[in-house]
Amino acid sequence: MTNYKGGVGKTMICQNIGVCLAKDKKKVCIIDTDINQSTLTWFGIRNEKLPNVPVFFAPTEKILAKILKVIKSNYDIILIDGTPSNIELTDRILKLSDILLIPVVPSESDIRVTEKFVSRVQEIQKHCNPSLSVRFVLNQITQTNKSKELSVRVRSL
Ligand SMILES: Nc1ncnc2c1ncn2[C@@H]1O[C@H](COP(=O)(O)OP(=O)(O)OP(=O)(O)O)[C@@H](O)[C@H]1O
Ligand SMILES: [Mg+2]
Repeated sequence: MTNYKGGVGKTMICQNIGVCLAKDKKKVCIIDTDINQSTLTWFGIRNEKLPNVPVFFAPTEKILAKILKVIKSNYDIILIDGTPSNIELTDRILKLSDILLIPVVPSESDIRVTEKFVSRVQEIQKHCNPSLSVRFVLNQITQTNKSKELSVRVRSL
């Protein structure tokens, strides 16, 4: 779950998908790569009686690779909560993921940043990870022209 843009819902969507999968009895965990540790903090305050979604913290490429190596075989699905502030770490996430979910919100500046991000994703797909599957998550959609425009522009990417 990543995008170069901050505040588009990466963390919120990651946590919600994690909980849905856990409720479905899937073995799921989240790797929080953001130094603000939002998902790690969420894990810390979460009621232990709720469906279990363990969270690991990987703020660098090296730690991410090490954690994945150790935990990969223990989970059906590993969600990665991306970070907008570390381009190298984002590249690494794109190289090792099976599915990329890109949250986007209907704002002009966010759409422009997302277009830049998509160019990078396409480069990585071409050179490093051709099987990477990419989906957009249209977040905070309302009955406005900007929201309608977002879905049209996203389809053209
Ligand atoms: N669909 C939504 N409905 C209501 N609130 C939302 C929705 N999506 C995101 N938010 C809120 O917007 C804020 C930013 O969301 P979030 O922290 O998930 O974004 P982020 O992309 O992870 O940001 P960052 O780049 O800073 O990590 C949060 O307060 C979150 O609860
Ligand atoms: Mg976040």
